Amino acid sequence: MRIGVLSGGGDAPGLNAVIRAVAKTAIFKYGWEVTGIIDGFEGLLTPTKTRQLTSWNTRGILSVGGTILGTTNRGNPFAHKTVIGGREIVEDMSPLVLSNIKELGLDVLIVIGGDGSLKIGHGIYKLGIPVVGVPKTIDNDLMATYVTFGYQTAVDTATEALDKLHTTAESHQRVIMLEVMGRYAGWIALEAGISGSADVILIPEIPFSMDKVVEKLLERKKAGSKSSIVVVAEGAKPAGGEMAVREKAADGYVLRLGGMAEIVANEVSRRTSFETRVTVLGHVQRGGSPCPFDRLLATRYGAYAVELVARKKFGEMVSFQPPVITSVPLENAISNLKLVDPEGELVKMAEGMGVNFGR
Ligand code: F6P
Repeated sequence: MRIGVLSGGGDAPGLNAVIRAVAKTAIFKYGWEVTGIIDGFEGLLTPTKTRQLTSWNTRGILSVGGTILGTTNRGNPFAHKTVIGGREIVEDMSPLVLSNIKELGLDVLIVIGGDGSLKIGHGIYKLGIPVVGVPKTIDNDLMATYVTFGYQTAVDTATEALDKLHTTAESHQRVIMLEVMGRYAGWIALEAGISGSADVILIPEIPFSMDKVVEKLLERKKAGSKSSIVVVAEGAKPAGGEMAVREKAADGYVLRLGGMAEIVANEVSRRTSFETRVTVLGHVQRGGSPCPFDRLLATRYGAYAVELVARKKFGEMVSFQPPVITSVPLENAISNLKLVDPEGELVKMAEGMGVNFGR
């Protein structure tokens, strides 16, 4: 048996832990071979972009951020883009992917990815290739699993940033906005915001009113608070308004969000006498060493992916349904995004304690 493994989409802390667990379980428990595909699905467009994984070259990577295999969040073999003579050509390269999988002698493909990469993995599965998915993303927006690996580390990073911002905001009597990632989901903002004691949390699932935000900040000042902290998810948007988009593809697809914290800060400055500052946490949330929770989860995911291969359970994604690791059909995971429930327990609890969501 030869397993191919690739990481697709944006990196997330714990990717190497999954790769290591796949390699070790396949090699030690089953005596199989593991081929690492370089740079995500791009690596399947040329059969030389691979690397044999051994117990030796996957040593010492459990705690290391990033991915030893490389990744990309800009390539889809079903709609592959190339620029020829200044014109963008979109082609379906999946036949080439299939013939390269054959040429490489891969019996199965383990795809470690978020929504986009697992959709591609599902597409390859529908073409007849045995595929197993592993849920990865700091955004935690995948259905059918309690949590994705990488998310907890991102929440830890954002919470630590909030702890630091509290002390400087207090010293200078400022309102500081922290913009965090998460794309269309507000999980990082919500959970880091609660854990880092934010006063206002703005998330995509609850379009905000600027009046309510300002009202809350003024109320806090009146009650004697010298400073305030506002967490802004990159996908947050004002009621009746739009998300802040940094970059769009030619076909209108949103490549990058960002800038809403700056917009909120400017508006707070315009309407009040508060001095404001903005911190955009950016890719710090994706880099660095996975926290112990993510190391363990990623290891369990990687090892279980190999067990699915052993049981020939293909077209499935490993899934954490506490306390057990199990699996679900890939299509359940990619059908919809898992978003924060605006009326859910976490939001309601935070509101009950005075946190403002701009409503
Ligand atoms: O999906 C993970 C993520 O970090 C999102 O939170 C963010 O919107 C996006 O990727 C950023 O992507 P890039 O690495 O292309 O800037």
